[in-house]
Amino acid sequence: MENTRFTEEEEAEGRRCFQYLVEKGLDNAAIIKRFDTIAEKYDKMQDIIGNNLPKWMGESLAALYTRNRQTVKILDVAAGTGLASHEMRKHGFLHIDGLEPSVGMLEQARKKNLYERYICDILADNSLDISDATYTIVTVVGLSSEIFSTLPIKAFEELVRVTKSGGHILMNHFDYIFERDVLRANLSSLENCGLWKLEDKQIMPEIKKGITGHLHIYKVL
Ligand SMILES: C[S@@+](CC[C@H](N)C(=O)[O-])C[C@H]1O[C@@H](n2cnc3c(N)ncnc32)[C@H](O)[C@@H]1O
Repeated sequence: MENTRFTEEEEAEGRRCFQYLVEKGLDNAAIIKRFDTIAEKYDKMQDIIGNNLPKWMGESLAALYTRNRQTVKILDVAAGTGLASHEMRKHGFLHIDGLEPSVGMLEQARKKNLYERYICDILADNSLDISDATYTIVTVVGLSSEIFSTLPIKAFEELVRVTKSGGHILMNHFDYIFERDVLRANLSSLENCGLWKLEDKQIMPEIKKGITGHLHIYKVL
């Protein structure tokens, strides 16, 4: 169905904004700077381009955790302006921390009061300032494509470290991102080391116009 809520100019601006964020060849610092620049326009842009990854994460989490939603602790990585937290809250999840390297994006989330702890940090080869086994659930929703597909293995080891044994790490993105070699190798490597087990893989057609979404659910061992 055509989206008639926005003018042609607004739609063109939304698409321009999206292209600005996904331009290839930028390093992580440059990408974060771009998110800082467009932070105030981000939610409207997502609405215009019709990206349903945050909504899908809320639904997936609700299907996986039918009980104890008010008590489980969640870390939302690459939190952005908090769209995923907003969706999780609709399903009754209350205790959500957000990790996000862009100060501007995190500021937008703060205005909406979407997280308990706002952690301004990057997921990379650094150690996170989070104690071991703090969370039952870690979510990663649409982390910048070029970065997500080349994250070092230490980044995933950190996600496992901060998650309780028996807890879950859920990551969703566009299907082709999960096909990339470095990402595929790192995800399997953690399974081969016995750190996590792939519990489920789901597909969502048209997660964004013309693009299929993939969700990976890992159980932390
Ligand atoms: C497309 S936005 C997704 C934000 C939010 N999850 C959503 O669905 O609206 C990508 C986010 O990834 C963040 N990001 C980029 N590199 C990152 C990294 N290395 N670690 C954590 N977050 C990162 C960006 O700052 C940006 O907020």
